[in-house]
Amino acid sequence: RETEPLTIAIDGPSGSGKSSVSKAVAGRLGIGYLDTGAMYRALTWWCVDRAIDLGDHAAVAIAAADLPLELSADPEAQRVVVAGTDVTAEIRSTAISAEVSKVATNTAVRPILQQAQRDRMAAITAETGGVVAEGRDITTVVAPDALVRLLLTASEDARLRRRSAEVHGSADEHAIAATRDQVLRRDRDDSAVSQFTVAADGVVTVDTSDLDFDESVEAVLAVVASVAGHA
Ligand code: DC
Repeated sequence: RETEPLTIAIDGPSGSGKSSVSKAVAGRLGIGYLDTGAMYRALTWWCVDRAIDLGDHAAVAIAAADLPLELSADPEAQRVVVAGTDVTAEIRSTAISAEVSKVATNTAVRPILQQAQRDRMAAITAETGGVVAEGRDITTVVAPDALVRLLLTASEDARLRRRSAEVHGSADEHAIAATRDQVLRRDRDDSAVSQFTVAADGVVTVDTSDLDFDESVEAVLAVVASVAGHA
């Protein structure tokens, strides 16, 4: 299995640790990383920037097909550039976060970005010998043939605590209450697009509810090692 490309697909709801764990796993394995959510976010930014109505599904799909996007594959130096503008930070803004579901639920857009994601995974794999790709339909639609497919889950409680600490720098009662609506709404919006809370056939579930960050990374690496024979 030495020469088999190490393609790893990771799914999971927000707050499962999906992004940070995926990046760390890619770093540990010395392979590239692809954040598919960043592509939906970049497209949202581009449409807003060009004053394309997000409700105009056909216009957004045309923008998706021509999206002038550059994504770095380095898990430690993620950079998202659209038409020469570095939007790495801006695509995480509350303004873009609030609009991205409109783009992600556009059924004319999804196949276009899904194909772009497959192409990008192949390019990164050719370059670094593998890829950790994360996103909500990665294990099922984008890369059902990935060597390792994982679903990171966490209890609603654990997810709220983490998101709250991330956004408010605290996980006290007040901060959790402020985060709850946002997290639950996102879950609801996203579940309209893809089912990410139940593992599909052949997908290994890693429950991170009672794991800290390092333990989550080790748990994923252990699954990779057992499936692919990599440490
Ligand atoms: O993971 P994230 O928050 O960066 O994702 C941004 C949005 O894109 C969110 O609404 C989920 C959606 N998304 C998706 O529908 N499919 C993916 N593969 C990745 C993200």
